[in-house]
Amino acid sequence: MNRKYRKTVIAANWKMNKTPSETKAFLTEFKNKLPRSRWCDIVFCVPAIDISAAVRAMRETRVAIGAENCNAAASGAYTGEISTGMIVDAGCKYVIIGHSERRAMGETDAEVNAKVLAALGAGLHPILCVGESLEQREMGVTEEWIAMQLKAALQGVTEDQMKKIVIAYEPIWAIGTGKTATPEQAEEVCCAIRTMIRKRYSAKIGRAVTIQYGGSMNEKNAFELLAQPDIDGGLIGGASLDTDKFLAIINAANQPTA
Ligand code: 13P
Repeated sequence: MNRKYRKTVIAANWKMNKTPSETKAFLTEFKNKLPRSRWCDIVFCVPAIDISAAVRAMRETRVAIGAENCNAAASGAYTGEISTGMIVDAGCKYVIIGHSERRAMGETDAEVNAKVLAALGAGLHPILCVGESLEQREMGVTEEWIAMQLKAALQGVTEDQMKKIVIAYEPIWAIGTGKTATPEQAEEVCCAIRTMIRKRYSAKIGRAVTIQYGGSMNEKNAFELLAQPDIDGGLIGGASLDTDKFLAIINAANQPTA
């Protein structure tokens, strides 16, 4: 982290977990336990059906709500999809885009790019996910792969719009596996991502972009991961489903930075 130049963002990705009533109960408990001091931005990205309950539960707090996906179209015949306009109107500030679990369901780089542009157009902060497979890591092509994912996802994104984007580095082999990237491995890629952004935009944007790590981040490893200079937060799956574990990760963001 480096709080002088950029925001620290700790975000939950609930994936397909919790019903609306469970959302209400969980977030009410979370709100009561949340310390008053402000160390980082906190976001809960929840299933679409839980958004209203989450927004209601977190009203008048500093906690933001996000969606886990969106459709790039403004409206139309897309059964089961939700638009960025709907997400904004429901009270969200963030939307996860390009998660590897959605890419595995067939989401292409071109679709990720269209969703990023739609989200920015609607005034949302996209949390743009990138990351390599185990095979790619073992072949030594991690950085090339991520450079390609970023180039495709950021097509047409202006310098001004880039200020709204959070990038999440999520190595696929670390997601839900309990196999966290070491702080050094995670830092190496997050630092490379920052360099890519700096080269594509400017030194100022490179310095200001928030880059999260995601993949089995938990209450035990968060402190060390967040101590890395280029890791500005986390995108947390499993550990965000437990108030105490998620609060411990938020507490880990309260450490001195360079
Ligand atoms: P886990 O924290 O469960 O590994 O999930 C990470 C993730 O995919 C967050 O988007």
